[in-house]
Amino acid sequence: MQYRRLGKSGLKVSEFSFGSWVTFGKQVDTSDAEKMMGTAYDAGVNFFDNAEGYESGNSEIVMGEALKKLGWNRESYVVSSKVFWGGAKPTERGLSRKHVTEACHAALRRLQVDHLDLYFCHRPDIDTPIEETVRAMHDLITQGKVLYWGTSEWSAQQITEAHQVAREWRLTPPTMEQPQYNLFERQKVEGDYAPLYDTFGLGTTIWSPLASGLLTGKYNNGIPNDSRVTLPGYEWLRDRVQSEAGQAQIAKVGELAAIAKEAGMPIHHMALLWCLANPRVSTVILGASRLSQLQDNLAALDARDKLTPEVMDKIEAVMGNKPAAPQRF
Ligand SMILES: NC(=O)c1ccc[n+]([C@@H]2O[C@H](COP(=O)([O-])OP(=O)(O)OC[C@H]3O[C@@H](n4cnc5c(N)ncnc54)[C@H](OP(=O)(O)O)[C@@H]3O)[C@@H](O)[C@H]2O)c1
Repeated sequence: MQYRRLGKSGLKVSEFSFGSWVTFGKQVDTSDAEKMMGTAYDAGVNFFDNAEGYESGNSEIVMGEALKKLGWNRESYVVSSKVFWGGAKPTERGLSRKHVTEACHAALRRLQVDHLDLYFCHRPDIDTPIEETVRAMHDLITQGKVLYWGTSEWSAQQITEAHQVAREWRLTPPTMEQPQYNLFERQKVEGDYAPLYDTFGLGTTIWSPLASGLLTGKYNNGIPNDSRVTLPGYEWLRDRVQSEAGQAQIAKVGELAAIAKEAGMPIHHMALLWCLANPRVSTVILGASRLSQLQDNLAALDARDKLTPEVMDKIEAVMGNKPAAPQRF
C-alpha cells in the first residue's frame, strides 16, 4: 500500500480506502464489518468512509462497534462522516448551521469517536448560503470535533465560492471533494475540477470505482441474484443497469474485459488501477459486500505493473470519453 497526500494537506491517506455505503447495516453485520475492516487495515488501508445517510445512521453504528472491538490506536486511522441526508424533518437535512452541527454530534456518538478526521457536505444545499456552511464547518474544526472538511458532488463553481468565502472571512476552506470517478464517470474529476487542483490544492476521495460492481463484469450475462441491484431500495440502480445506457456500458465492459485478459489481470483490477493512475485521486474508496470481494480488490495492487501506457491507450480507445481539457487562450 502506498500513501498519498490529501490534496495539499499534510494528511496521508492510503491509496485504497474502504467505505460502507449499501453494505454496512444492510448486507454486512458488525462481526463481518470487523473482519473486513481488520483485513483492510492489515493491508495498509487507513481511511474508512461513512455518512449519516448510510442506512439511516446504522452504517455508522456498525462501523463504530467494529472500531471499538478492533481497538486500534486512534492515531493510526482516518474515519469520515457526511452530512446532508439525516431525518425526514426540514431541520434534519441539508447544510444549515443547525444540521451540520447536530449531524456531527450524532455521527460522533454513532461512530464512538471524539473527532471526525474528515467531514463532508454530502451534496450542495441550494437553500443554505455557502457562507453559513463554511462557518459551521470552521467552528467544528476550531472546537476539535472535525479535522478536515470537504464536499461531495459539488460543482467547481460551488467549491470555488466556498474558498472565496473562507478567504474573505479567514475561515477554514474545504480540503477535499468526494466525487464519483470510474471508467464511465470522468467529467468532474478530469474536466470540471482541473483548475481547482493547483489553485486550491484540492484532494479527492473518489467513490464507486467499479460503478457499483458493473466493472467487475458481474452484470454481463444478466443480473445475479445476490448483487446490489437486487436489494430492496435499489430499484433505481437496477433500472439504470437495464436501461439502454446501462446496456451500452455493459457492452463496453465486455471490450474492457478483453483488454484486461490480454494484459493478464481481471477487469476489476484494471478498473481500480485505472482510477489510481490519476495523480489527482488521493484515495480510491473500495466497496465490498463480503470479505472475499475486499480481499480480491485489495489484490489489484499486485497487478500494478500490468497497467502499462499501452494498456492505458487501449482503454482510452475503447472508452472514447476523455473529457476535454479546459481551454487556454
Ligand atoms: N459521496 C457519495 O455520494 C458516495 C456515493 C457512493 C459511494 N460512496 C463511498 O464510496 C464507497 C465505494 O462505493 P461503491 O460501494 O459504490 O464502490 P464500487 O466498487 O463501485 O461497488 C462496490 C460493490 O460492487 C460489488 N463488488 C465489489 N467488488 C467486487 C468483486 N471483486 N466481485 C464482485 N462484486 C464486487 C459489491 O456489490 P454486490 O456484491 O452487492 O453486488 C460491492 O458492494 C462507498 O462505500 C462509500 O463509502 C460515496
